[in-house]
Amino acid sequence: MEKMDILVVGGGGREHAIIRKLKESPRCGKLYCAPGNGGISRDAECFDVKADDLDGMVALAKKLAVDLVFVAPDDPLVAGMVDALEAEGIAAFGPRKNAAILEGSKVFSKHLMKKYGIPTAGYEVFDQPQAALAYIKAQNTYPAVIKADGLALGKGVILCDTYEEACDAVKSIMEDKIFGASGSRVVVEEFLTGPEVSVLAFTDGKTICPMVSAKDHKRAFDGDMGPNTGGMGTISPNPYYDEEAAAFCMEKIFRPTIDAMNQEGRPFKGCLFFGLMLTPNGPKVIEYNCRFGDPETQVVLPRLKTDLIDILCAIREEKLDTLTLEWADEACACVVMASGGYPAAFKKGLPISGLNPEGQRNDAVVYHAGTKYENGKFYTNGGRVLGITALGATLDEALDKAYDAVEKIRFQDAHYRKDIGRPAAKTE
Ligand code: AMP
Ligand code: GLY
Repeated sequence: MEKMDILVVGGGGREHAIIRKLKESPRCGKLYCAPGNGGISRDAECFDVKADDLDGMVALAKKLAVDLVFVAPDDPLVAGMVDALEAEGIAAFGPRKNAAILEGSKVFSKHLMKKYGIPTAGYEVFDQPQAALAYIKAQNTYPAVIKADGLALGKGVILCDTYEEACDAVKSIMEDKIFGASGSRVVVEEFLTGPEVSVLAFTDGKTICPMVSAKDHKRAFDGDMGPNTGGMGTISPNPYYDEEAAAFCMEKIFRPTIDAMNQEGRPFKGCLFFGLMLTPNGPKVIEYNCRFGDPETQVVLPRLKTDLIDILCAIREEKLDTLTLEWADEACACVVMASGGYPAAFKKGLPISGLNPEGQRNDAVVYHAGTKYENGKFYTNGGRVLGITALGATLDEALDKAYDAVEKIRFQDAHYRKDIGRPAAKTE
């Protein structure tokens, strides 16, 4: 069997989960990661090239003569890293720039959904703050949902309960430019209610294979309180996403999105992430991401039984229809341990105890998100530090295993939610 040497771009928990799944494949040759992190360095050779450094990454891929580059984060995908690699004859996994715009521009994705009748919240687009505010005042329905057009580290959505809050939000996005150029335009959207579901899907632009569902927990504190974060924990499957919802989404959302992108001359190849809300009027798209989710990947990939490298090759060759993906029936839970203070200011460089020399434990899988490895020890090095993950026969069993391990890992001011999956578990 021909082995493949693979370079994974990125350095968080998602990339660690991808690397550990690639390692399971008998086809896996040398594994590299850039920039990687402390925990990833125990599984793959890491290089100090930033994830959004297109030229640097192309040069590294050439130097390493890899067979494939797996571009995991949104920034390099939206900036065209896959195009840059392919221009040099290097095989890459991920959508090209003209398809990654599905995440890169909310205005693009909203217009696409409207044009092709894909269910989503009603909306208007504004490039002038006064016009946006006049519209919000006339609508007079709150919360008002205001979104910056471009990438904003997952923080570009502001829910406003009053007109005054909307004024502040529009000003900070469009005038103070808190999200930079991403805020030149805003989308003002209808407020939707219902459980949220994350569905990642492999697609080669022809066939779309949804993965098992997941549920993220975006708020920092228990009871869904506090500021939005990159994600404090995940479970899979999502107990709210039943077969009926899955069938509806396939027919009205997943398939139509792939067809729409082809119609627009922007075929999407890679992993397409559907952020869905199960509203009283049926499932609707909250957002598209052009990549694997973080921390969704940490609970979805452990359940994948099909060889990931076979899937990546099938997507490259546009033969995804020849594979049937197999998934473990077990549930999976991931609890994120974050630095105290995250998502605002936090300390770095604090020693972590409770991990073996590989940065792992016997009772759970530890995906490293923000760690550094120095002289045989692990130190905190980011907001989200570790994602403690376990499989179980039931969701409760997976959660119990993950939390038992969490309690044995320590670093100063460590913060984690105690209720990951718990309200959802009760509804089963
Ligand atoms: P996003 O970054 O687009 O995933 O949005 C962040 C969070 O804002 C989502 O997970 C939702 O909880 C919330 N949100 C976004 N759009 C809407 C909407 N139209 N109605 C209600 N909540 C929303
Ligand atoms: N967990 C949501 C995201 O990856 O954007």
